[in-house]
Amino acid sequence: MSNLKIDTNSIIGIVGAGIMGRGIAQVAAKAGHQVVLYDNWNGAVDNAMKINEKELSRLVEKGKITQDQKDKTTSLMKPTMDINELAPCDLVIEAIIENKEIKQAIFKQLEDICGDVCIASNTSSISISALANGLKRPDRMIGMHFFNPAPIMKLVEVISGLQSDQQLIEDVHTLATSWGKKAVYVKSSPGFIVNRIARPFYAEALRLYEEGVSDFATIDEAIRTSGKFRMGPFELMDLIGNDTNYSVTQSTFDSYYQDPRFKPSLTQQEFSQAGLLGKKSGSGFYAYEEGKQKGRDQIKKVSASNNKLSEITIYGSLGLADELIPLFKKAGINVIMTPGDGYIEFNGIKLFLANGKMASEIARDLDDKNIAQFDINIDYEVSPSITIATSLLAQKHVASNIAALFSQIGKDTIIVKDSPGLIMARTVAMLVNEASSTVTNGVCDECSCDIAMENGVNYPIGPFKWADKVGSVYILEVLDNLESFYKDTRYRADRGVIERTIIGSNYYE
Ligand SMILES: NC(=O)c1ccc[n+]([C@@H]2O[C@H](COP(=O)([O-])OP(=O)(O)OC[C@H]3O[C@@H](n4cnc5c(N)ncnc54)[C@H](O)[C@@H]3O)[C@@H](O)[C@H]2O)c1
Repeated sequence: MSNLKIDTNSIIGIVGAGIMGRGIAQVAAKAGHQVVLYDNWNGAVDNAMKINEKELSRLVEKGKITQDQKDKTTSLMKPTMDINELAPCDLVIEAIIENKEIKQAIFKQLEDICGDVCIASNTSSISISALANGLKRPDRMIGMHFFNPAPIMKLVEVISGLQSDQQLIEDVHTLATSWGKKAVYVKSSPGFIVNRIARPFYAEALRLYEEGVSDFATIDEAIRTSGKFRMGPFELMDLIGNDTNYSVTQSTFDSYYQDPRFKPSLTQQEFSQAGLLGKKSGSGFYAYEEGKQKGRDQIKKVSASNNKLSEITIYGSLGLADELIPLFKKAGINVIMTPGDGYIEFNGIKLFLANGKMASEIARDLDDKNIAQFDINIDYEVSPSITIATSLLAQKHVASNIAALFSQIGKDTIIVKDSPGLIMARTVAMLVNEASSTVTNGVCDECSCDIAMENGVNYPIGPFKWADKVGSVYILEVLDNLESFYKDTRYRADRGVIERTIIGSNYYE
């Protein structure tokens, strides 16, 4: 049973004073705990204390904490190179090099020095059950996965291994919450929640680029503007570092026995091997000067034709995109509603919402050239642009006529090569699918998934909120169409997605 004191009387030990350890030390000390910060390299503890001092001073300057709070926080952190000083600690959080054997050696030492201590590893990728193997008290070993920078990022994944004590898990969850963090319960499994569910955000963008659907800047812009993501996948990979991002994907892929859902990208491997790591190396998918992106790459947008539209016909429901109807009406366009298969018709053009098929496939099935698709959007009203693709056989005027329609409601039109699921529809479907699979596998519940993605990687809304927005039937349709197009089990729907279409209810009421 856990005997962890879930108040500031508990002394927190940190092993490893690198990027993560020093940040976690700051978090615990700010919350009022006495903290012992240990590293076996002198430079590390000195450096950690200096950086923490600087960061806390900045918070005082910004008026976020008082000078007294800063002084108290600093005085609570005790740097040391003597592991024996961890003896009085109630909870030791380990943040050393990502190596199972080295971590396990430290845990055994801690058991000898600190007795009945609780040990939490900040590992990003190693199984908590495996780390606990060989300990005297494997029940007192859990995972506590912070995100970088630890003082700023809200999420903490509290991870249970097969032998972890349930009460300890709950106590650490309570403790992390008292530190101002959003804590979620996770069952130990490769990638935990965030590093697993985020994979398709990068993978689908890389695949779209590799298939020549569009360039980095256009894909990033489409994702930023249609999904309100703070950063597009390529800018984010440049920020994380192509080497780091590639190796996380590679290890996830291997951990899931080469499941095609996690297949790494040859493009990213090439960038990584070339040393084009992103922001930190000065060049990646974009070029950087003094840490800032150099120039702005051209984004592929369509110029609107001069044809002002006074009337369009909408056949059936556009699903999520029905949000466009009041915008068209407000712009003075007469909207004729009539039963049908869900598309907008004007000037001989049929414009469908992306559904995981190519526009050209729909054109072939309807024996009609002038077919186009537009992408899903988190908020059609506020989004500055809409992404489209025209069928391979479409006449030249199709794109500019669609741009004219969207310009009447104040939107730019981004254009990409015809592709199944365009950009957002396919990315969202794959994020929802991975989130669903995470829940199906009992790693966490739906709500924790959303909290994790919103607070660990700042997604504007979590995957299950997206699923409710577009509907599970839509997600399944996109996945099924992608799977049949690519003949690739990467796109196979998780049973949870299928079940939800049968139950018919939303994830959130
Ligand atoms: N950097 C991230 O973005 C991030 C995010 C979440 C989790 N993590 C995980 O956190 C852990 C630490 O990562 P980091 O980025 O802070 O690494 P880091 O290299 O910045 O720091 C590691 C520190 O551990 C010390 N160390 C190594 N072996 C030691 C030992 N045997 N005893 C005592 N100290 C030792 C090193 O001197 C170094 O100061 C890893 O498990 C990593 O996977 C990292």
